[in-house]
Amino acid sequence: MPRILRDKRIVVGVTGGIAAYKVPELVRRLLQGGAVVDVVMTPAATDFVGPLTFQALTRRPVQVSTVGVWQGEQAGHVTLGALADLMVVAPATADALAKLAHGIADDAVTLTALACPAPLIVAPAMDHHMYRHPATQANLELLRSRGVTIVGPHHGSLASGMIGEGRMAEPDELLGAVRQVLGRDGPLRRRRVVVTAGPTREPIDPVRFLSNYSSGKMGYALAEVARDRGATTMLVSGPTCLSAPYGVQRIEVETAAEMARAVQEMTASADVLVMCAAVADFRPRSPASEKIKKREASLVLELEPTEDILASIHRPGLVKVGFAAETERLLEHAREKLERKGLDLLVLNDARRTMGADTAQVFLLRPGKPPEVLPELPKDEVAERIWDAIQLLLEAGTGTGIG
Ligand SMILES: Cc1cc2nc3c(=O)[nH]c(=O)nc-3n(C[C@H](O)[C@H](O)[C@H](O)COP(=O)(O)O)c2cc1C
Repeated sequence: MPRILRDKRIVVGVTGGIAAYKVPELVRRLLQGGAVVDVVMTPAATDFVGPLTFQALTRRPVQVSTVGVWQGEQAGHVTLGALADLMVVAPATADALAKLAHGIADDAVTLTALACPAPLIVAPAMDHHMYRHPATQANLELLRSRGVTIVGPHHGSLASGMIGEGRMAEPDELLGAVRQVLGRDGPLRRRRVVVTAGPTREPIDPVRFLSNYSSGKMGYALAEVARDRGATTMLVSGPTCLSAPYGVQRIEVETAAEMARAVQEMTASADVLVMCAAVADFRPRSPASEKIKKREASLVLELEPTEDILASIHRPGLVKVGFAAETERLLEHAREKLERKGLDLLVLNDARRTMGADTAQVFLLRPGKPPEVLPELPKDEVAERIWDAIQLLLEAGTGTGIG
C-alpha cells in the first residue's frame, strides 16, 4: 500500500444516505494503508450502517453523539477534529452539506468538521433533484470556495430508482482523493511529470493487432505515487483495464506513433519523463484496410520498426527514466540501453516474471554507478523506491534530457 497513508489520522464522517453501505470499504482500504481511522456518524447514518461495523473494522470507538464521551487515549467533543490530518465526509447528505457550509454543528459529524483545521473532503450523494437544487449547489459552491475538496457525485442509478446525477464516488476514487490531498504539499510539489504505461496496439487489419502482456500496473502505480508526492501528473496510457487514477490527467492512446506524439506534447513543459510503457518495437508495415480472410496458405506479415520515443525527446533539464524488460543477459542489455538512450535512470526487470504480475523485482541503473538491486516488492512499493531515486536526481539538478 502507498506510503502516504501510513500513520495518518483520518476522521471519516458518515451521514444518512443509502451510499453509507460503501463506506466500510473505504475505511478498510485506509486501514490497509496504515492510517489510523476514527469514524463519526450522524444518528440518521446509523439507520443505514451500524456503528458496530465501523467499530469492528477500526477497533476504535465510534462517535454518534455530540456529548458522547468515550474511554481511550483522549476524550472530548473537539479532540478528533483537532488531531486529524484529514477529514472525509462520505456520504455527504444534502442536509450535511448545508450544515457544513453554514457552520452548524449539531451532530457528531458537523461538530467534528467545524473543530477540524485539517483539509476536508466531501462526497455528496443524493437524489438528482436534491443535488440540482439551487440550495445544494450554492452550499457546494461555498464549500469549494473555502478549499473543501468535493469528489463526485457521478451520473448513475440512484436509490430513488431514477438514473441521474447524485451517485456517490466509489471508494477507490475517494481513496485517490485522500492520497492526493494528504500529499499536495509533498516533495514533488510544483513538478510536472509524465508517465507512460501499458502496452501499445499495432493494427494488422481493422479487427486484429500486435501487442504484448503489459498490464499497465507499474506505470499506474508510478503515476499515483507522483500524485501522492504533490506532482502535476500526466499519464499517457496504452489500452489497459485500469481506471484513471484520481487527480492524474490520463491521455489514452493505442499505437506507438500516437504515444510518441502524446509524449512529445506532454514533455514540452515537464521536469520528469518516466517511460514505463511497453511500446511495440515493430508494427505491420501495411495494415490491411479490410479484415484478412482465413485461408490454407500461411500469412507473412512484414514489420517495420516503430519510433524510439525516449531517444527522440531532447530537452535540457528533463530527467529521463527508462524501463527495460529483458529476458536474457539482463544487466548487459540494460547498461547498453542506458547509454544509447542517454537516460538518467533505468529500471530493469525480468520481463517473464514482471509483466502482468502484482509484484516486481527490479534493478536501478544510473550512469557510472553500480546497479542497485531491490528485493521483490509490490508494484506500489517499487514505484515509491523509483520516485525516491528520481527525487535525488531532481535535487542534484541532474537531467541531461539529451537522447
Ligand atoms: C431511505 C432513505 C435514503 C436517503 N438517502 C439520502 C441520500 O442519499 N442523500 C441525502 O442527502 N439524503 C438522503 N435521505 C434523507 C436523509 O436521511 C435526511 O435528510 C436526514 O435528515 C439526513 O440526516 P444527516 O444529514 O444528519 O445524516 C434518505 C432518506 C431515506 C429515508
